[in-house]
Amino acid sequence: MTQDQLKLSVARSAIDYIVDDGIIGVGTGSTANMFIDELGKNKHRIKGAVASSEATAARLRSHNIPVLDLNEVDSIPVYIDGADEINTYGAMIKGGGGALTREKIIASAAEKFVCIADNSKLVHVLGKYPLPVEIVPMARSVVKRKLAALGGKPFLRLNKDKNSPFLTDNGNMIIDLMGLEITQPAEMEEKINNIVGVVTVGLFARQSADICLLGTNSGVNVLVFDR
Ligand code: A5P
Repeated sequence: MTQDQLKLSVARSAIDYIVDDGIIGVGTGSTANMFIDELGKNKHRIKGAVASSEATAARLRSHNIPVLDLNEVDSIPVYIDGADEINTYGAMIKGGGGALTREKIIASAAEKFVCIADNSKLVHVLGKYPLPVEIVPMARSVVKRKLAALGGKPFLRLNKDKNSPFLTDNGNMIIDLMGLEITQPAEMEEKINNIVGVVTVGLFARQSADICLLGTNSGVNVLVFDR
């Protein structure tokens, strides 16, 4: 199976986790996009969705799924999103698409985080995928130095034209931290979050997944994690 077919298989399986008459939190990225397309066929089952990015909000609206403001919502039974890497404890690297802050906010508001991923995302040690860190633009040099002191190589994320910095939906910049071996994700998450000027680190260890639907050639594996 291709990677896209594996992504589609988990996007379809995630429909089983929709809570009827509830509000669903929806992530960002290519796997989340496939999930949104499946959700479009099941929209009668939900009251609406909270989106983790402008791109996700637009795709939800294209299916006529009501997009709600997080501030107007009391409960989100389930949040469904992809990951760039996930380990065997449910800790993840996220933010390859730049939506990490809104993703983490919605995940924190949700009762359950269901990660949907093809099996290339499952790792023993997080860090091969560059760790995204959203930062306040005026702090970029000082934060870069502090991130380098943690042992990684920090790179400011640029737009595709390579001439301008990538900006998040929140108007911030992203530093991608390369070359880390993250053996203690929760500690690393806390350390990076404590650097002044950091908005959010794309390590989801304290905010880990409850369940991962992992697409493999022999079907969808359901991994359940203790939190
Ligand atoms: C978006 O900011 C990310 O956190 C995505 O969830 C992550 O990059 C996974 O994306 P794909 O589903 O496109 O691999």
